[in-house]
Amino acid sequence: MKMLAVEGIFTAVDVPAAGEGEGAATAPSVRYGLNPVSRLLVGGGVSPCVLMGTSPLFLEASLRLPQWFQRDGEGEPAFAMAHGESPYATTGHDMEFNALVNEAMGSDSRYMAELVVRECGEVFTGVTSLVDVGGGNGTMATAIAKAFPHVKCSVLDLPHVVQGVVSTHESVEFAAGDMMEYVPPADAVLLKCVLHNWSDEDCVKILTKCREAIAQGAKAGKVIIIDAVVGSPSHSQQVLEAQVLMDMQMMMLFMSKEREELSWQKIFMEAGFSHYKIQPVLGMRSIIQLYP
Ligand SMILES: C[S@@+](CC[C@H](N)C(=O)[O-])C[C@H]1O[C@@H](n2cnc3c(N)ncnc32)[C@H](O)[C@@H]1O
Repeated sequence: MKMLAVEGIFTAVDVPAAGEGEGAATAPSVRYGLNPVSRLLVGGGVSPCVLMGTSPLFLEASLRLPQWFQRDGEGEPAFAMAHGESPYATTGHDMEFNALVNEAMGSDSRYMAELVVRECGEVFTGVTSLVDVGGGNGTMATAIAKAFPHVKCSVLDLPHVVQGVVSTHESVEFAAGDMMEYVPPADAVLLKCVLHNWSDEDCVKILTKCREAIAQGAKAGKVIIIDAVVGSPSHSQQVLEAQVLMDMQMMMLFMSKEREELSWQKIFMEAGFSHYKIQPVLGMRSIIQLYP
């Protein structure tokens, strides 16, 4: 607790001894309390993200980084060096890890959804249907459906992720599939924390499928990306630190990265989009609207 308080995770207040001298009723002590950081970890907060980040599978992978650097970053990512497969292959057969990842991303989405609804609800104006690609257990789609009843949502994810998920909202449906192969038609496609798992080439493939999906929607639609845009001038040093830590984690897990605006722009143009709008209003992440 002493260490965590010094690191700024808890408050620490000295409590003086009660009573005087040897006959004191209680010895001096320290009372620890919650601060804004530790409040995030309790009562439906983002503690599952911490449990995922400190899981043995992640930690064993990070121990492979020295070897990985010695190979000049060639070959497979550190996670695959440690476990012989990618994280999403592991979620396919390790049900405990699958549950941990889905719960962690769900807790992040619960927190993000509040910000999206509050800070950029206008993004959903005129959208009648939305598919959340790589939408995990549907937390984000459910929050959107609740906040914007005019939007009918569906969630596309891998079979082992969506199987057994029970929809808690009448206008949220789940579909099992591979986004590399097919994205169902909709006015809007949402990609939250998905593209940072993939190489530039794979992002172009995914976004091309998304462009085809919105072309078949009822209206000329858009793709909505929630991910980091590194180096936005409006970001603080703390936000930059969080972004580069996440960049490290993406490198270790997938050999992918967090991107600066120029890298995003190149991918968008290669995938056949003509223009985009970035709003850096979600802490370390931005909301990007992308148009054909
Ligand atoms: C980092 S998680 C993000 C989950 C969710 N969007 C969120 O932010 O809460 C990435 C998601 O992509 C899904 N995914 C990975 N490969 C996929 C594929 N080929 N097709 C569809 N979904 C995929 C994973 O199962 C996972 O749920």
